[in-house]
Amino acid sequence: MKRIKVNASCAYNILIENNLLDSVGKYCREALGSPCRLCVVTDDNVSPLYLSRVTDSLSAHGFDTIPFVIPHGEASKSTETLVSLLEFMAEHRITRSDAVVALGGGVVGDLSGFASAVYLRGISFIQIPTTLLAAVDSSVGGKTAVDLRAGKNLAGAFHQPALVLCDPLTLDTLTSEIFSDGCAEVIKYAVINDREFFEFLKGGIRENIEEVIARCVENKARVVEGDEFDRGSRQLLNLGHTVGHAIELCSHLSISHGSAVAMGMVIVMRAAVSLGICPEKDLSMLLDMLRAEGLPTDCSFTSKELADAALTDKKRMGDTISLVVPFGIGDSRLYPIPVEDLVDFMEKGMSI
Ligand code: GLY
Repeated sequence: MKRIKVNASCAYNILIENNLLDSVGKYCREALGSPCRLCVVTDDNVSPLYLSRVTDSLSAHGFDTIPFVIPHGEASKSTETLVSLLEFMAEHRITRSDAVVALGGGVVGDLSGFASAVYLRGISFIQIPTTLLAAVDSSVGGKTAVDLRAGKNLAGAFHQPALVLCDPLTLDTLTSEIFSDGCAEVIKYAVINDREFFEFLKGGIRENIEEVIARCVENKARVVEGDEFDRGSRQLLNLGHTVGHAIELCSHLSISHGSAVAMGMVIVMRAAVSLGICPEKDLSMLLDMLRAEGLPTDCSFTSKELADAALTDKKRMGDTISLVVPFGIGDSRLYPIPVEDLVDFMEKGMSI
């Protein structure tokens, strides 16, 4: 088993092991102490696959489980679903000594995390990611949120999980599109600050999945420890995300998060090459890696459409927007630019 500790405002473990789903009860007991009531949130894709395995393990260790199943997909990351979940928890008299378990991908994790952050002003929650994206990114670090009509993740809270349990075998049931989606986040870590990891990834992500998850999570844990509340260095984790969120918004969410992040990384790196601050060879390496993992590299929106959408992003501070720009593979830096220069920057990223 791989065990990675995150020393954030509250310390917690991330455990990674095949078939960990059968030991969820044991590790929840260790993390939460005495048995309590657990609201287990999942979606209608994951529920038939893994819900009973998880609740059986929890029951065997004395927990009383109350499942809440939401429709799969980004549309469930809404204020409406959040309120339904909070009302459900209240109806079932979940108390401060109870907890929430998020069994699923990023939507389930972000929604459940936010519900547990605000319910009774905060109760414990446990993440059990079942997508690659959730395993390597969203389940770790305590960012929780729902979407608003104006953009993604615009209402949320920092609320660290008490435990993250990752069973890599759950990734075997993902479609190739959803698996590729998570690959964008994996490649992101390498491009931010780990060129050696980029070389390692050339051996294939699926082929080395346990090691890949552990290295991403280790990387993220150290970043979160250095800047839990996203005031500075944690913003590097947003590589490809400002443009990526704009692409998602312009596509009315028909383009997936990972695909959008892949295109977003390409646009900022191409702009960096065009500005003469990033070698062209590194851009070719990124394009090859994204294509090898089944990810798109070009988008059909104009620089003006993307810039307008990007200005709703949380990374905007008054008249400046903070982008993350690769100066090479493994060397990404915060790059604040005036809002009025954004269209020009995007345009540079459209083609060389
Ligand atoms: N997904 C970016 C972060 O957790 O900061």
